[in-house]
Order: sequence, then structure tokens, then C-alpha cells
Amino acid sequence: MRIPVHGKSKDQVKTELEAFAGRDASWRDGKTLGYIYDAGPEVEEIAKWAYMRYLTENALAPTVFPSLLQIENELVAIAAAHLGDVPGVVGNFTSGGTESCMLAVKTARDFARATKPQIKEPEAILPVTAHAAFHKGCHYTGVKKVMVPVDPKTFKADPAAIEKAITQNTILIVSSAVSYAHGVLDPIEAIAPIAEKHNLLFHVDGCIGGFLLPYFKRLGAKLGEFDFRVPGVTSMSMDFHKYAYCPKGASVILHRSKELRRFQMFVTSDWTGYTIINPTIQSAKSGGPMAAAWAVLNFLGDDGYLRLADRIWKATQAIVAGIRETHGLRLVGEPDSNQVAFTSDGFSCFHLIDEMAARGWGVQPQFGYHGSEANVHISIGQKTFEQAHEFLSALRASVEACRAKGFSQTAVRVKAEVKKIGAGFRPEMLSDLMRAVGLEDGQLPRKSAEFNQILDALPPQMTAYVLTEFMNDRYIHRSKH
Ligand SMILES: Cc1ncc(COP(=O)(O)O)c(C=O)c1O
Repeated sequence: MRIPVHGKSKDQVKTELEAFAGRDASWRDGKTLGYIYDAGPEVEEIAKWAYMRYLTENALAPTVFPSLLQIENELVAIAAAHLGDVPGVVGNFTSGGTESCMLAVKTARDFARATKPQIKEPEAILPVTAHAAFHKGCHYTGVKKVMVPVDPKTFKADPAAIEKAITQNTILIVSSAVSYAHGVLDPIEAIAPIAEKHNLLFHVDGCIGGFLLPYFKRLGAKLGEFDFRVPGVTSMSMDFHKYAYCPKGASVILHRSKELRRFQMFVTSDWTGYTIINPTIQSAKSGGPMAAAWAVLNFLGDDGYLRLADRIWKATQAIVAGIRETHGLRLVGEPDSNQVAFTSDGFSCFHLIDEMAARGWGVQPQFGYHGSEANVHISIGQKTFEQAHEFLSALRASVEACRAKGFSQTAVRVKAEVKKIGAGFRPEMLSDLMRAVGLEDGQLPRKSAEFNQILDALPPQMTAYVLTEFMNDRYIHRSKH
């Protein structure tokens, strides 16, 4: 593939791109219960208008584009007011939850370098339910992640386990409001005093729950405090591109004070070019996501969001009740928000992914990890309000279709082999392992339910190896020549 020798017509370019897009999930039907946060055509229209208006403006340079500085400051002010309205809180607009979480880790590392120089090998304490974005943050910044168990029934972070994990090298504690996997709110009010007592930074990740939880409380949900009103919370993340229904590329990282936020910045004039002053990871960046977020927040308004939150709240209650009533299904955790995890008895829950897909529904597999058994995840959306009954009918029909499917015997053998090999397990041993369990070509099976069951049986570092190879193979353009 090369740049075409002669440019194509606008019509041809559009036709070709439309043909690409035709292969993607038809998410506007509301049946993709993950990846998508949609509030309907009117919101999409205003978001697109604002995005296009600012598509080519560059938020790298707030002096050249002062309107983007104002838009960013207004968005941060809205987020800070939403999360406790505590004076002194500052923040920045980022490209997404991952960037916000990574910046929380970067800030903690640089804060520790300045204030606790004796720490040479900094550590961050992550409950096993903390989002993988913190693992990425630790990986990129050279901070050691210290994983701690959570309550085995509720999947909420365990304050005692966190305190036990604190060492001379700890710089940061992370908790979730709410966790992605099970949608549960960690006991922030119990963890914050531990952070304060040990003089540690404490980040509350509200990427997926931060925007909705205040509305759920107003609608009557009994939930603990989780934002800057809790003394000891030093930073928070919250995504606009999830339940504020803004286009992708919209999140915020907030700090309790300007003094802390200083350590988030990267500034240098130590080269031949222009001075770099980056509060976030990106440097040059489109003003589109910011402008679109501003537009959607102002278009929907507080009353609009409350109405939308009410729909999601009711849809979640209907789905949770339906899962409870379905013989063969079991909730994993008790969701405080609209993320719901459930598993199956008598057959692998991964068969449900295929059966639901055959009925037009997109649901997500989650592997077993530290007491959280293999499960199916759904993030309930706006359309689920009207579609809860249809979803539950499809789910019940899927369960019936799955009953006879049982479990992959290959996956059972993989589990036994992995146990036998124990700590000596190396990724290069994968094909030998596959042969040992009866797969003659040494390759993983292609069928998704079986593939998922085998991945679920492998240790996480092996799964990472398999998926790296899988993706490394996907991002290749297969030339026709
Ligand atoms: C709790 C939590 N934190 C962080 C993230 C990462 O956000 P993003 O996918 O926008 O990078 C997610 C994504 O779902 C999340 O649920």
C-alpha cells in the first residue's frame, strides 16, 4: 500500500471510508454494552459540530489559542465542582482515563523525588481491582506496582490489606470509584485516613464512576463519600468521554492543590527548538475533544444528566434483578454503579459471549483473577432502559443454548499443566504446552469460547505474551503484491 499516485475524488474517498466503517459494530442500536457511551443523535450532532469547529486548533499553545485555555479551565471547574466543590482543586483536560491515571502516577513519582529523595525504588499500592491504566503508569514511570487483595465477596478494596502493604518506599495508594470490572465503590473514607497517617498521596479513580455517582446519590443511592470532601484524597480522575457522553479523547485529572499539580508538568528548554510546557502527556493536540466536551456538557446541563442517570440506574436495577432470577447465572460482586459482572454455573461463561453475539449483543469476557472468577461484563447504557427486557430474553435464550456446552477439556488440561510447571513457566514454552494438552499444531484454538477458556487458564504473563503476538500479527497491512 502506498499513497495513491493521483489523489482520489472527495466522493471516492468518502465511499471507501464508509465501506470500512460498514464492517464495525452497529453501536447506535444500543446493543454494544462496552466501549460506547451514547446519549442519542442530538448529543452526537452538537458534539460533532463543536469538534469540527475546533478540529484544527492546537491546544499545545494556550497563548496562541486562548479560547482553548478558557474551555479547558471551564471543564476542569465543572469537574471539580462535581467532585466535592472543594476550594483549591486544580486540574487538566486529558485524552482519556489512561492518560489521567498515568499522570497520577507520574505526579506521585516526581513529588516523591522532590520531597522524599531517600526513596530510590518507589512503590504504588494497587488493589487487584484498580484499572490496568495504573499498571501502565507504573510501567512507564519505573514505579513498582504492589498489588493487594480485595474483599473476596464484595471486591471492594481492603483498607487493612492496603495498610499492611505500606513500606518505606510507598509513594501512592490507588482506589476506585467505581472499579471497571465489578462496578463497586471502594471504601474511600476508610482508606484516606491510612494515606494521611503515612503521609502518602491517595488517588481515587473516578474515570468510569465519577460522573454518575453524584447523580445516583441524588436519586437515592446509599453510597459512601468518595471525592475531595474526604480529607486525604489528593487526586482524582474522571472521564467526560464515558457517562458525560462526550466524544472520545476527554477526561480530567484533578489535584487537591496547585502545589501538587506542579509535579504533573513536563517543561524543558534544554534543546534547540521551542520551549516545551506540557501539563499532560500529549504535546500538540486537537482542540476538538475539548470543544466537543464543553458543548455536550452545556447542551445537556445538570437536569439533562440527572434524567439520563435515572434511566441508567433503573436499567441497571432491572438487569441485575433479571440476572439474579436466571437459573445458571450468578452476579460477581454487587454493583454500586452500572458496570455488572456475572458468571455461569455448569458451563463456561465465555460461551455466553458467542451466543449473545449471535443474538446481536456485544458483551465482554473478563478472565478470572485473584478470587474474581471468569465472568461476563456489561456496561449498561442509555438504550438499555428500553431494551432491558430484550437483553434479558436474549441472555436467557443464550443460557439455554450454553447448558450442554460445559467446559473446554483442553483448558482443564492447560490448567493442570500450568500448575505442574509452576514458577518455571516461560512464554517460549507455549507451543510445547499446547502440544502437551493435545493440540498437535502447538497453536491456540481459534474458536473464541475455547480460546478465552485457555487464556483464562494461563498465568497473566503468558496471556500477555499470547495477546502481544496476536496483536503484533493484526497490525500488519497484507499487501496484494
Ligand atoms: C475505572 C477506570 N479507570 C481508567 C480507565 C481507562 O480509561 P480509558 O479507556 O479512557 O483510557 C477505565 C476505562 O474503562 C476505567 O473504567
